[in-house]
Amino acid sequence: MSSELSPIDKAKFLAAKRSVAFVENGMRVGLGTGSTAAWMVRCLGDRVREEGLRITAVPTSSQTAALAREMGINVAPLDEVKWLDLTIDGADEFDSDLCLIKGGGGALLQEKIVATASDQMIVIADAAKEVATLGAFALPVEVVPFGWQTTKALIEEALINLDVMGRTTALRQQGEDPFVTDEGNYILDLELNRIGNPRQLSLMLNQIPGVVENGLFIDICDIVIIGHGDGRVELRDINAGTTDEEKIDFMEDGNIFADLAE
Ligand code: A5P
Repeated sequence: MSSELSPIDKAKFLAAKRSVAFVENGMRVGLGTGSTAAWMVRCLGDRVREEGLRITAVPTSSQTAALAREMGINVAPLDEVKWLDLTIDGADEFDSDLCLIKGGGGALLQEKIVATASDQMIVIADAAKEVATLGAFALPVEVVPFGWQTTKALIEEALINLDVMGRTTALRQQGEDPFVTDEGNYILDLELNRIGNPRQLSLMLNQIPGVVENGLFIDICDIVIIGHGDGRVELRDINAGTTDEEKIDFMEDGNIFADLAE
């Protein structure tokens, strides 16, 4: 069944599969959003059903919450759980310092709050997400709907003095309408092409009235698990300074692939 998945999907699945081995009984776990995180939620659901794994999970979006419940995972709000042992999430880009761009799925605000409230964040990604310099993926910025055009103009003005290669900004659309986040906000996607100083950019963006949060995750991610289409997974730990490589057997996971094919 695995042969029906594209190499990218295999890579995402492998990273997700490896990541759930970090989850232990009794843990409070943040669940990310996106296609890679959805694989992780399915793999975690398997462990809950097959091993009786007991965890409390805090989802980072309404769609992840729905999937987690469907998988039989015990879900609770962050304000009840307050602090988490571990968050596992995808990313749109990561660099060698494990700085990230996130928010392609529009859930960056909850994702950043949950990851920051965690002892450890693990990012799961296919190899194509690794970049030398962040910025090829448009940077999502969540803004309040009130005065969003003024906020957009202020962002464009601020970008003039920053080390970026492009300065085009666009309101994210869903069909004819603006895309609306779980918090009722809009997303501006910033086409910057190259972000020379992510830390400075992040600080600058969050100082602009109307900006709720931006998709740069700096000093938040501890480990990245990179899946490859040929079955290899790489684990890079920024704190330990280690890189390990393993091989995962697709055949063991026939059930998950069969479920998806239904
Ligand atoms: C969701 O808002 C994002 O931050 C996702 O984590 C990111 O877009 C990665 O998504 P995929 O796993 O679908 O590539």
